[in-house]
Amino acid sequence: MPATALVGAQWGDEGKGKTIDILAAKADMVVRAQGGCNAGHTVVADGVTHKLHLIPSGILNPATVNVIGNGTVVTPGILLREMDELASKGYSLKNLKLDARAHVILPYHIELDILAEAARGGADLGTTKNGIGPCYMDKAERVGIRVCDLIDPAVFAEKLKVNLAVKNKLITLVYGGKALDFEKIYDEYCGYAKRLKPYVTDTSVLVYNAIKANQNVLFEGAQGMLLDLDMGTYPYVTSSHPVTGGFCVGAGIGPTLIDDCIGVAKAYTTRVGKGPFPTELLDEIGERLRRVGAEYGTTTGRPRRCGWLDLVILRCAVRVNGLTGFALSKLDTLSGIDTLKVCIAYKKDGETLYDFPTDIRDLEGCEPVYVEMAGFGEDITGVRTFDALPKACKRYIELIESETGCPIRMIGVGQDREQNFDRN
Ligand code: GDP
Ligand code: IMO
Ligand code: MG
Repeated sequence: MPATALVGAQWGDEGKGKTIDILAAKADMVVRAQGGCNAGHTVVADGVTHKLHLIPSGILNPATVNVIGNGTVVTPGILLREMDELASKGYSLKNLKLDARAHVILPYHIELDILAEAARGGADLGTTKNGIGPCYMDKAERVGIRVCDLIDPAVFAEKLKVNLAVKNKLITLVYGGKALDFEKIYDEYCGYAKRLKPYVTDTSVLVYNAIKANQNVLFEGAQGMLLDLDMGTYPYVTSSHPVTGGFCVGAGIGPTLIDDCIGVAKAYTTRVGKGPFPTELLDEIGERLRRVGAEYGTTTGRPRRCGWLDLVILRCAVRVNGLTGFALSKLDTLSGIDTLKVCIAYKKDGETLYDFPTDIRDLEGCEPVYVEMAGFGEDITGVRTFDALPKACKRYIELIESETGCPIRMIGVGQDREQNFDRN
């Protein structure tokens, strides 16, 4: 460590939760800085599965401080439900901290997400319908309600009244939906505010002080680079910045304070939701990856689209995130496939492209250029050193490293926190 940023290098669901949980054993603090409950981070510890949406994946370590930073969007009911679930399993929440500047997701954000998606018809974005986009829209429009507003009943009443008047017009007149009731939202959210107030603080100060005191601080990305509002496959993206640069704004600290940037990459590619996917497999190998890798969304349960590993994407992830290393997950899922393909470039109009196109229209007609390699049949879920991996796995790893110029530092061979080892 001391201050390590960890992000998704593809379209999300790379195994960030598991990786954070492992690194959190040595971390004093884990920080979420963007996104909200659209994230679904699975941590399997001692045979028990935990699905975390808003609470950082360091929560299973009692000594680790877990921060929900200013750049996140918080659904209070979901946060409290997650807190209650963890408490009922015996985990302490005394080290959970929520930034006063984080924006609050209200029922009208969720309603507008659902209505806008429906209105797009076949051109919908495939959002998680958690109100993420509409909440970040309010933030950018400077009308959002923040945690510091929520915990002040008079300020909350005032802001909710003004906002709801506008949102109800949108809901009824533009989308033909049903108006939402002020009293109902106010009462429900005041109840949430009372419970959340003890956790609210200025987390920028906490994070800064921890780094200055040489503590190990881990920044936990949600989503992945290709879902970034700027660098992703726009408009099929989320509304925040899930790249390492996003941690600076979303946790309120400067870039010189981050020492190390790790990208979590799955050994193949998946994507949930709509949008282009050059190496997607619509055949039985894609089906097999989904079945063996249990590729169903943690948040929505939707089947994830599956495809071959794409090194054009990982090369882009190295550049955009300034990666110093990869954590490669789910290598075990590839076992039993006779021939593995890895995309190292795209071909379009006779030209070979090594850099990910800026516009999704340029992705259309891009043909992946594949390197074919012999697969491996061994069950590798019990392997704990690089040397003990089958030759084919080693070649696969070395190809990723040579094509991206970035070392693989951690390797995952199963869901459990034990099923993981360092490259060296
Ligand atoms: P996240 O959103 O990046 O935290 O990833 P998700 O939790 O949504 O999805 C990753 C899934 O893969 C979870 O079910 C993890 O438990 C699982 N997983 C993570 N690493 C490995 C691995 O190395 N091998 C296997 N088989 N499963 C893994
Ligand atoms: P984790 O942190 C995978 C996708 C949605 C949709 C797009 C926009 O678990 O990796 P949104 O609700 O954010 O407006 O949806 O982004 N998406 C994710 N896909 N993993 C996630 O998070 C995601 N969070 C959002 O499926 O395509
Ligand atoms: Mg996930």
